[in-house]
Parts: sequence; C-alpha cells; structure tokens
Amino acid sequence: MSDFDPSSSISLPREAVRALRSSQIREVANAGFGVPDVLPFWFGESDRVTPPFIREAAAEALGRGDTFYTHNLGIAPLRESLARYVSELHGATPLDNLAVTSAGVNALMLAAQLVVGAGDRVVAVTPLWPNLVEIPKILGATVETVSLSYGEQGWTLDLDRLLAALTPDTRLLMINSPNNPTGWVMTRDQQRAVLEHCRRVGIWIVADEVYERLYYGDASERTAPSFLDIASREERLICVNSFSKAWLMTGWRLGWMVVPRTLTDDLGKLVEYNTSCAPSFVQQAGIAAVEHGEPFTRSLVADLRASRDHLAAALAKLPGVDVKVPHGAMYLFFRLAGAQNSLELCKALVRDAGLGLAPGSAFGPQGEGFVRWCYACDPARLDAGVERLARYLEAVGAH
Ligand SMILES: Cc1ncc(COP(=O)(O)O)c(C=O)c1O
Repeated sequence: MSDFDPSSSISLPREAVRALRSSQIREVANAGFGVPDVLPFWFGESDRVTPPFIREAAAEALGRGDTFYTHNLGIAPLRESLARYVSELHGATPLDNLAVTSAGVNALMLAAQLVVGAGDRVVAVTPLWPNLVEIPKILGATVETVSLSYGEQGWTLDLDRLLAALTPDTRLLMINSPNNPTGWVMTRDQQRAVLEHCRRVGIWIVADEVYERLYYGDASERTAPSFLDIASREERLICVNSFSKAWLMTGWRLGWMVVPRTLTDDLGKLVEYNTSCAPSFVQQAGIAAVEHGEPFTRSLVADLRASRDHLAAALAKLPGVDVKVPHGAMYLFFRLAGAQNSLELCKALVRDAGLGLAPGSAFGPQGEGFVRWCYACDPARLDAGVERLARYLEAVGAH
C-alpha cells in the first residue's frame, strides 16, 4: 500500500488556464438539452455541407493512400496555390510568407505564440469572438479591450480611442474584420492609420481576416479591405485566414497564415510542437477549394447577402428589436428588448421558444444587451426562427 494521500495534493491546471472564460454559447446550448425541437442559429457555420468537388478531392487523396505526415508549413502544391490566390487578391505574396495551419483558430494560437509572452500587453477590439481575447491570456499576457460603438450607423470604430490604447508598452493588436459577431468592416483609411501608428510605435498586428470573402460591399470587390493590401510582407503583420467560411469547410480544420519571412522557420518549429502538420488529405482538399472554388464562393456570398437582407427585414418588423445591416461576415448582432442579461434571455429562448441564439455577452461586456444570429442557412428556416422569436416576444409582452 502506498502512503500517498491524493487529498493532500491539489491537482489543478495553471492559474492562467483556470481564469479563462468558458463559452457562453455552449452554456446556452447545454440549456437546450432535452428540448426536442431547437432551431440552432448560435454557431458560426452554414447548415450546408462542403461542396462536392472539395469532398471528392479528399476522398480521392484518401483512396490514393495520402495518409502521412507532411512538411510542417504545408505541402508545396497547397502553398503554391495559396501564394497565387493571396497574390491575386492582395498583391505579391511569395510561398515563403505562407504557412498552412489546422484552421484559423490554430493560426491564431501560433500567431500569439510567435510574438506574445508572459506579462505582455495585448489590445483587442471588441465585441469579438472570444478566442482572440482568451488565447493571449493562455500565454500569460494581459488583454485590454477597446470597444466599437453602437449607434445609428450600426457598429463603428472610434479610431482615436484605439490609437490612444496602442501605447508604446503594447506588444500586439488583435483585430478581426469583417468582425464576428458584429459584421463590422474596418475601412481602408482606418487600416492605414492603425498600420502607420503600429509601425511608428513598434506594435505587432495580428489581423484575423477569416471572413474577408464574406463581404457585401460593391459587387466588384472580391474581399473586404485587408491589411495585406497596404502592408509590406516583411513588417510586423501576421494575417490569419481559414478555409472554414469561404468554402464551408468548418469541420476540416484547415487554414493559413501570412507572416514575414523572418518568422517562417520559427513558425515551422511551433507547428511541429503544436500539431506537426495539417492532415495531408485535407490539404489536398484545400488545393481543390483554392483552385476551383471561386464560382462556389461567389454564389455563396450572393446567397448570404440575400439571407442577411431577408432576416434583417423580418426582424425589423418585430417589437423590441433594433437591427442594423452590416457589410460583412454572416451574423446579425442586434439589440433585443429584455436582453439586459443576454445569457439568461438566450437560455429562456432555447428552453421556452426552441430558438438557439448566441448571447451578446459571450463576445465581451460591450455585447451585453445584444444577441447574435447566424444567417448562413435556408431562408425558410430563418422564417421559422423569426416566427418563434415573434411568439416569444408577444408572450412576454415586449414592446
Ligand atoms: C473571428 C474568427 N476567427 C477565426 C475563426 C476560426 O475559424 P476556424 O478555426 O474554423 O478556421 C472564427 C470561427 O468562427 C472566427 O469567427
């Protein structure tokens, strides 16, 4: 018998890990357990399956036995395809500046690991998908937030407030545009001002541009304004992207990042110690997406634009709803009467109305009072959801 007494040793993870916020969207989903018929609009993904030509490319690769480790930075043909794609959209981007990752969230973690250490100050613009705020904290950094403002124009950035927060002791700015959850899109002028300020002060920028193709500006514009359009490839900018949104590949876990060449070798080491590489047959599917996916992405964006307008028009008719139509991503983030505690409201909506929305507070305190609705789905489903919300609001007497 060992005389080891387990109760005398407390088994807990690091404090920084314990202090991470858990997902409030999951908390709402858990409240829906046992509710038989929930319409889920809470997660950031389409209800449509990945297009067949991409699935076939992966199946073919598996059939050929493409089941081995690859280069840490991705297979050369995929990096070449990405180099052509990114260069076409945003100007010359050689293969040496590109790394394939296990989706956007892994790219965000790698980006943070590249430039952030314990005690560093990071600034993030919120409301924001929580991963960008929590990831630097895992590494022991502190994260200050600068909130977008909400008004007649929807969500807008107070540029002076952001620049004032980007002090000389700031290591990194994490910025996501088009933005999850608000759909806010940073303008070219704002990007220029931020880039120039960060150059002057010596601050890294991690630009999360995973929604760049889900942009509803002028039909001639294929992407939202990107930091890559105005920056050199060799400055302190890391751009994160993903196959999840433009080609409906959320479950595949494939993404990429654009980094200065001076980082590429060290990034390879980090990939080795995190995941070693993205799955090889998934990378083959990525080549099919980049090489043949343009017509698909264009028709997806047209469908999303129509869904956005359809949902916004339907919601605008409801009492207690204040909705603005944003220019990017795939969410409406709207103010809802009775959502002062949006987490509790969303739990009630799922329990009592069978409607799955994400609480605004999941995206930071600035999101309180709002709820997020992902409109990447069949319009009939959107209509059914709006009907449920209307009935709920009527029952609780919203006005
Ligand atoms: C702002 C933002 N960045 C990154 C991601 C990461 O997506 P993935 O890891 O599927 O590429 C998401 C997913 O919803 C997101 O909303």
